[in-house]
Amino acid sequence: MRLPQEIIRDKRDGRALSEADIAGFIEGLVQDQVTEGQAAAFAMAVFFRGLCLDERVALTRAMTHSGTVLAWDLPGPVLDKHSTGGVGDTVSLPLAAMVAACGGYVPMISGRGLGHTGGTLDKLASIPGYDVAPGLDRFRHVTTEAGCAIIGQTADLAPADRRLYAIRDVTGTVESLDLITASILSKKLAAGLQGLVMDVKTGSGAFMAGRAEARALAESIVTVANAAGLRTRALVTDMDAPLASCAGNAVEVAYAVDYLTGRAREPHFHAVTLALAAEMLVIGRLAADVAQAEERLTAALESGRACEVFSRMVAALGGPSDFVEATDRYLPRVPVVRPVMAQASGVVESIETRAIGLAVIGLGGGRTRPQDTIDPGVGFTGLVGRGARLETGDPIGVVHAANNAAAERAETALRDAFRIGVTAPAACEPVKDRLG
Ligand code: URA
Repeated sequence: MRLPQEIIRDKRDGRALSEADIAGFIEGLVQDQVTEGQAAAFAMAVFFRGLCLDERVALTRAMTHSGTVLAWDLPGPVLDKHSTGGVGDTVSLPLAAMVAACGGYVPMISGRGLGHTGGTLDKLASIPGYDVAPGLDRFRHVTTEAGCAIIGQTADLAPADRRLYAIRDVTGTVESLDLITASILSKKLAAGLQGLVMDVKTGSGAFMAGRAEARALAESIVTVANAAGLRTRALVTDMDAPLASCAGNAVEVAYAVDYLTGRAREPHFHAVTLALAAEMLVIGRLAADVAQAEERLTAALESGRACEVFSRMVAALGGPSDFVEATDRYLPRVPVVRPVMAQASGVVESIETRAIGLAVIGLGGGRTRPQDTIDPGVGFTGLVGRGARLETGDPIGVVHAANNAAAERAETALRDAFRIGVTAPAACEPVKDRLG
């Protein structure tokens, strides 16, 4: 390999790097021959200078092959969905089971909460006994037997991303489109996928709040993934309000179970879930088109097959075998549960969604330091949506808190997040763009 400092200089001065340079740098990073300072300088140079398509593909490939790359021999396509993160985004739980119930296999590596967004991993960790960090053998076994397994990132898959991500996190280099693309895709390619659907969020609760930025990220991921041999489509979806009418960990698991059993299926959440799952079936050639895919997915929900798959996955990963039947018995509760009242009458004009995510963290449902433990029972339920008409004293949501002081802080934050006025907002499209 050329010296790391020579590679950094080239990128700093805006020159394109060769595939060999990028592969060498990443290998050096994993083998501790590239220092943390060099990796940080490299990330900053990429942040300012960017990577061309060939460089992005090379970086993605190098990070993919920095550890184990799974290979599957299954009777159906191996598919996944990845979201850029949001609030009340508990789509992965029902979606994995729905796609598995239609013949796909979904080995889903999910993350912890990041910034103001909730993490699928933290949600599942609120199920007693559920093993979010099984070895690769158990991961394979559960995926094969249940059709899906949702677990956390393992040390074996894409270790270069784990190292680089930790450095980016503390050096102001997370928000690089090129680095985000390679980071997400290296983990997906290492999981041995045959098809991926990206859910790129846009709106007040998204990292890429602007529609143009979200579209640019979606385009980058689709282009690089397809160039690296992974069939990928991306949907840009609405995150201008919490996706579910709740936000937290256990409360979102309960919501997902209600969705699967049919006890409650909110239209906006359903539209996004169905759209993403349908793209997965089409990419996996399990349906000829989106319309047929949606029919199959609806049948899997209505017949209860998707719910059975979820129940099998939970039990196979160590959770209770009757979790779906007795969810309330198993999920953690908190002592203070009380409604938050509107202090004015009018219509909900907009929602500062990011603030709701931050309020969940304030309640203890997310982390402010990586080593923090979270309180799985806290959060909000019963959140009203944009356009809801309210009288003074009507509830805008219900807070679940560990104590009265935390509940009061969360109530204030929730009230501040809702702009109540006189103008009804325009109807909002759940899916704003489709790419790939
Ligand atoms: N999620 C990832 O996995 N990587 C990033 O760089 C950003 C979000």
